[in-house]
Amino acid sequence: MTDPISQKLLPDNSSVDTDGMLMIAGVRIDTLVAKYGTPLFVYDEAHIRSRCQQAVRAFGEGVSYASKAFLCTAMARLAYEEGMHIDVATMGEAHVALEAGVPASHLVFHGNNKSTTELQYAIENQIGRIVIDSFDEIDRLESLLGDSGDQIQALIRITPGIQASTHEYVTTGQDDSKFGFTVSNGLAEDAVRRAASSPCIELLGIHAHIGSQVFSLDSFRKAAEVLANLSNHFELPELSVGGGLGVAYLEEEQSLSIEEWGLTVKSVCDEAGVTARVTSEPGRAIVASSAVTLYSVGTIKELEGIRTYVAVDGGMHDNPRPALYGSGYETFVPGRVLDSRTSEITLVGKHCESGDVIVSQGYVPEGLAVGDILATPVTGAYGHSMGSNYNKVLRPAVVFVNGGTDRLVIRREMLSDLMNTDMG
Ligand SMILES: Cc1ncc(COP(=O)(O)O)c(C=O)c1O
Repeated sequence: MTDPISQKLLPDNSSVDTDGMLMIAGVRIDTLVAKYGTPLFVYDEAHIRSRCQQAVRAFGEGVSYASKAFLCTAMARLAYEEGMHIDVATMGEAHVALEAGVPASHLVFHGNNKSTTELQYAIENQIGRIVIDSFDEIDRLESLLGDSGDQIQALIRITPGIQASTHEYVTTGQDDSKFGFTVSNGLAEDAVRRAASSPCIELLGIHAHIGSQVFSLDSFRKAAEVLANLSNHFELPELSVGGGLGVAYLEEEQSLSIEEWGLTVKSVCDEAGVTARVTSEPGRAIVASSAVTLYSVGTIKELEGIRTYVAVDGGMHDNPRPALYGSGYETFVPGRVLDSRTSEITLVGKHCESGDVIVSQGYVPEGLAVGDILATPVTGAYGHSMGSNYNKVLRPAVVFVNGGTDRLVIRREMLSDLMNTDMG
């Protein structure tokens, strides 16, 4: 690897200033670092908007942004402004979306084990759709609603028996899964009948989510076929294929477009004569490549003939994906974005674990030095949202850039934040 980082891994509105400095949406990276420090997530707002628009064009009304990928009020508001509904998987995600001003009717509440408190919250806030995941959940809903005469609107999550080729931790459509009602053993049909006959539930449709970071259109096609059959059989008005569209993180990978995904799903449903509203809930495909993470190099350790460790001020607390799934990322130096990357490094964080590796095989220009800014691209999804306070680190700030201006959407944590829940 010697080439500069390729444009396809950078946010849409990236450009290079005359001195070789990366700019995103017209804002220089060094300006952002001087203003906000590192580690820093920088999101290209217009990039996110364009992916939301693509999703709405591909799927139409009802398409949801899966907020687990990245959520703050600015993000929820943006997705809503662009016409998306919001998929939430906990009361916490629902709370943030509601605080952002997203109408409850536009929320879709997921979860394989929603607590009674969460279901009560969904009922009280009149959340648009609850995606029912188990018979126990139906029992809980019925006992909460009792004979009030009120109904919640719901979808049934099915497990279509599709083994999507992705990391086993994020495959969810196979029969052996904690999620949903299995189709192959008849539980899915039982669940639809049970929910449809419940006085507390207005059953709107069925849902499946086969996994995340899926690159095979064939897997989506097969899942859509199973959903289409069930949907037609029960004549339900809505059908959701979940999320999961794969995104390129590495130079050799190629993302699928939201449009291709939509066309694939819609053509299966059209062929099957589905009349239900067909929708989806992408997360990663909306935000992943819209952001880069900026780090400061703190230490460089050269092990002659073995490797060069470059340690930065972030790590598994701002990006746990490499440690969790072995996910790969690229590295580059935003101040020298056009330079050849001829030097191989292993990018590590500051945590007390050897597994705290952000990029096991990264490339940077020759002469990287302590104090330089180093970046990883495609960090907009499941980085900040899966981050933690491990080792009591302070979680990084998040900035949105647009049209030459920047705005802080999540401030960097302060030491006092660590005491928020500490009862002494
Ligand atoms: C039910 C459901 N829908 C949508 C998504 C979003 O997946 P992705 O970010 O891969 O598009 C997930 C991710 O786990 C999910 O569990």
